[in-house]
Amino acid sequence: MKRLISFLLLLFLSACTIAVVETPSVNLSNSTPTAVPENQVTLRSLADRKDFGIGAAVALGPLRRDRTYSQVLAGEFNQIMPENAMKFQALQPERDRFNFKGADDIVDFANEHNMKMFGHTLVWQRGLADWLKAGDWTREELIEILRNHIQTVVSRYRGRIYAWDVVNEALDTDSSLRELIWSRGIGPEYIELSYRWAHEADPNAKLFYNEYDPGGWGAQSGQKVDALYRLVADLKERNVPLDGVGLQMHLRLDDAPTYEGLKQSLERLAELDLQIQITETDVRMGYQGEPSPEQLQQQASIYKDLIQACLDVPKCTGFWFWGFTDRYTWVSSFMGQSGAPLIFDQYYRPKPAYDAIAQAIQAATR
Ligand code: G3I
Repeated sequence: MKRLISFLLLLFLSACTIAVVETPSVNLSNSTPTAVPENQVTLRSLADRKDFGIGAAVALGPLRRDRTYSQVLAGEFNQIMPENAMKFQALQPERDRFNFKGADDIVDFANEHNMKMFGHTLVWQRGLADWLKAGDWTREELIEILRNHIQTVVSRYRGRIYAWDVVNEALDTDSSLRELIWSRGIGPEYIELSYRWAHEADPNAKLFYNEYDPGGWGAQSGQKVDALYRLVADLKERNVPLDGVGLQMHLRLDDAPTYEGLKQSLERLAELDLQIQITETDVRMGYQGEPSPEQLQQQASIYKDLIQACLDVPKCTGFWFWGFTDRYTWVSSFMGQSGAPLIFDQYYRPKPAYDAIAQAIQAATR
């Protein structure tokens, strides 16, 4: 009889243990997602005090089905952008048949939680609809397709989206103008036309150009920041309606800019009377199993350098993560391993990188 009782007790305790391990640290109650209590210090509360944008890209699936995801998102960030829901293929899956359901859900969430909404992205080489890629279009047809897409989307959200990534990644890795359907079919002027069309559709929206640099925009990686500077300086020279630049930060532990190098690049671009935002930040760790304490500290140190450089350049008005929890990151599907690149772990527990970001914002004198 005793053996039976001890076996049942063991069974009960092990069940409790499993429940504890798999229960994320954030309250998983079934209450509707609400912002984190006012008095709790969060990245959002710290950033709001400095009138600084702290944002995250939002994945539609987790937003719709994971209450903890939406709760942490609303509590920790004051601006959001869709990871995929506003790309061409998502919004216009068939010619002239727009599907705004996913994008509307994210815009509505931002509105419900008093967050600023950033649109990503109108013109890019990827995320294109199959019908567009399959077509044999004349220049006039492509101009009309692109104009119609931009103006239909931007005018729908007029007044509800404060800024747009109009053109994303128009520069190739070697810093030449990237070859894509729009440049081949319309010519390099597709860039200028896109900003003018977006501005016509919503004159009050801030229009950004977003770019990727493998070296993370450190001055030593030089070449791409030179090409970016020339591109945006030329657009400004020709009075193209351009308000800001987004610098993507998809980094690895062994490939990140220094604080000084990034600050130099930010200051250089700030000369062009543009806002700058650090966008799409994630710092993946090549490892098997769980990252070591040393890797987590190294990751935190990189995150701190990135946001500190932004905080120390007045024209750098915002900092974005590409997702926010290791539970959902594009890295898993694209790199074949999670790389634990973000600031919350898969159980929504803040990592050392979270603390480093919070401390930098709190200490910022802006
Ligand atoms: O929604 C379809 C689904 O219906 C289909 O079954 C599935 C399998 O084919 O594909 C799903 O679409 C995928 C989409 O993500 C949504 O999950 C696309 O194939 C996939 O290519 C797409 O990947 C996204 C990628 O951009 C391309 O759009 C990544 O999630 C997203 O993180 C990544 O983000 C980009 C930024 O927009 C621009 N900067 C670089 C960054 C990383 O590549």
